[in-house]
Amino acid sequence: MGRYHYVFPKWSNALLPTLCVLAAVGPLYAALLVTYGFSPLTTDIGYQPVQPVPFSHHMHAGQLGIDCRYCHNTVEYANKAAIPPTQTCMNCHTQIHKESPNLTALNESYATGMPMQWVRVHDLPDFAYFSHTAHVTRGVSCVECHGRIDKMEVVTQQETLSMGWCLSCHRHPEMRVRDPKLVTDLGWSFEKDDEAKRQFDSPEDYHEYWLNHNNLAPSQDCSTCHR
Ligand code: HEC
Ligand code: HEC
Ligand code: HEC
Ligand code: HEC
Ligand code: HEC
Repeated sequence: MGRYHYVFPKWSNALLPTLCVLAAVGPLYAALLVTYGFSPLTTDIGYQPVQPVPFSHHMHAGQLGIDCRYCHNTVEYANKAAIPPTQTCMNCHTQIHKESPNLTALNESYATGMPMQWVRVHDLPDFAYFSHTAHVTRGVSCVECHGRIDKMEVVTQQETLSMGWCLSCHRHPEMRVRDPKLVTDLGWSFEKDDEAKRQFDSPEDYHEYWLNHNNLAPSQDCSTCHR
């Protein structure tokens, strides 16, 4: 301890507690700023990180018509929608475009067994609880929260994912639920669905039917999303 007395004059001892508090709180304050102030969840509609391989949802889900659940195969059963392992891609890419430079990182991952380092796009803070199965099996389509992923070359965040945004649908889910069989059909609309139009007089009737059929009453209790 003694040698610090050469560096700091005596009066600085009185400052020490203040400095300690600042040193302790400063980083915390900065972390909070980063978390709440600059988080992509609160500000970055349009957040679009660069991925290790130029994987296109427009190509795979849109043009080739591969169902979302072929790759995100836990989305109906679990809270998390799994990002597919390299093996899922290799079901096709051991044959298709296997020499393409666009697949270099994928081929390396396959050869070494190291998982792909996909960059997360959507990310709620840990204190918020979210469940895919609770929505997808009740007829809330991916498109309500993620937009037209099947038209995106690069996945982009479409909604704020803020608490107010969640609650706006929990308060008024009427027009935003459909037949659960159609949740991965992102281009679906009542107008384009001849069978629905035969059965129901209006989109309102259609949506009301699915709301009542599944007894949907999304909760606004704090403990639903903060547990
Ligand atoms: C052939 C496999 C495949 C199919 C089919 C597929 N995805 Fe993906 N998806 C991926 C991969 C790989 C990623 C991670 C890389 C990226 O973000 O582009 C991803 C990322 C995502 C993300 C962003 C995840 C994050 O980090 O927040 C969303 C949302 C998503 N997919 C939704 C969908 C929807 C909706 C469909 C159906 C319309 C679909 N996906 C079809 C493979 C697929
Ligand atoms: C069901 C088969 C299938 C699966 C599964 C699949 N792909 Fe593809 N992928 C294709 C086809 C077909 C093309 C080429 C389309 C074309 O060139 O017209 C393609 C093209 C690509 C390309 C562009 C290649 C180039 O040379 O430009 C990339 C990158 C790619 N896929 C990545 C992936 C990744 C990553 C996964 C796993 C998440 C995946 N694919 C899963 C069928 C598949
Ligand atoms: C009610 C809104 C909502 C619906 C509907 C929805 N998602 Fe999500 N999705 C989210 C939110 C919120 C996150 C971020 C979750 C987190 O950070 O914990 C997310 C994250 C993801 C991720 C990244 C992995 C994960 O689970 O964090 C993928 C992939 C994804 N969604 C795919 C899909 C697919 C495919 C569908 C339709 C079958 C779908 N989502 C339907 C809101 C939704
Ligand atoms: C487009 C409409 C919509 C959006 C957006 C939405 N939800 Fe929901 N949510 C629903 C519906 C519908 C249900 C099912 C209610 C039921 O089963 O009665 C539900 C159910 C839930 C449940 C399950 C409750 C339980 O009892 O298990 C949780 C948790 C939840 N939502 C959290 C969230 C969070 C967090 C967000 C925002 C990130 C969100 N929701 C955004 C419509 C939505
Ligand atoms: C339908 C889901 C849902 C319900 C219900 C809900 N919250 Fe939240 N809450 C969230 C999500 C998601 C976030 C994270 C938002 C973000 O990242 O900006 C959040 C964030 C918060 C925050 C952090 C500050 C902020 O605004 O971002 C507080 C505090 C909070 N909630 C309190 C509450 C209280 C109190 C209630 C009950 C009156 C409640 N929440 C009900 C989903 C919900």
